[in-house]
Amino acid sequence: MIFYFSATGNCKRIAEDIAEYLGDRTLPMTEFLRFESYTADISDEKRIGFIMPTYAYGLSLIAEEFFKKMNFAFTDRPYTFLVAAYGTSPGNIAFFTNKYLKKSGMKLDARFSVKTPDTWTPVFDLSDIEKVEKTNRRSVREVKRISSRIKNCEKVRRMKMETPFFTAFIHKPLYRMLNHPEKFTVSESCVGCGICKNNCPVGAIEMKNGKPHWIKTQCAMCLGCLHRCPKFAVSLGKNTSKHGQYLRK
Ligand SMILES: Cc1cc2nc3c(=O)[nH]c(=O)nc-3n(C[C@H](O)[C@H](O)[C@H](O)COP(=O)(O)O)c2cc1C
Ligand code: SF4
Ligand code: SF4
Repeated sequence: MIFYFSATGNCKRIAEDIAEYLGDRTLPMTEFLRFESYTADISDEKRIGFIMPTYAYGLSLIAEEFFKKMNFAFTDRPYTFLVAAYGTSPGNIAFFTNKYLKKSGMKLDARFSVKTPDTWTPVFDLSDIEKVEKTNRRSVREVKRISSRIKNCEKVRRMKMETPFFTAFIHKPLYRMLNHPEKFTVSESCVGCGICKNNCPVGAIEMKNGKPHWIKTQCAMCLGCLHRCPKFAVSLGKNTSKHGQYLRK
């Protein structure tokens, strides 16, 4: 059983590739939150996995809410793994995951990280398609290697590019610094299709007079609205319109 969160498709693709290799199934974390269904019976599972993006060296608000609310029911704890997608470093995401798993009597047996295109386009430039595809080809090879290690129930205590535990204090202030949905703007090319609103994982967009409006308190800054807009009408600051849109196929 593989739980995942994915805003722009990297983690969905990683989860699906690993699930296919292992003959497992994938479950989006957002569905548990949407249906307020907070118990998962994992007693018959051989292994259980969590696959999600790194946000500000730690967990996204969505993964954090999932871990805070979920209860896992089991008698013998199954082999438990984490795969974190990252652009520059997965930071302390494993530290935070373990912290939340502890409350359910669980812990990570293995942790892996996969370098992907970095979807934080206020900083990172994804406009070079060839460069983006090269990173994705490399990530597919890495996911194959990881899948076979998971199949063998390998114990792994450090993931690639993980930072020491004492950098964990960076996560909260950094995420707060990034989290400014009031800075989203929408251009004239918006056609009012509502795709941004309908796909927002936390319901942080309202349509008013045929245009999106960001509700300040709820946004997770996943940038799904910016990357998914068919007219590329959503910007965040001055760089995103130059840095391109990205959705993993
Ligand atoms: C708000 C936000 C914060 C991010 N923070 C980090 C980070 O601290 N370190 C990193 O390496 N990548 C960071 N990223 C990049 C994502 O982890 C990466 O692109 C991931 O593959 C996205 O997964 P998805 O396509 O499944 O949503 C961040 C992305 C976003 C949107
Ligand atoms: S997805 Fe783009 S075009 Fe559609 S309503 Fe949102 S901003 Fe406008
Ligand atoms: S408003 Fe946009 S950035 Fe914020 S959570 Fe929704 S889709 Fe993600």
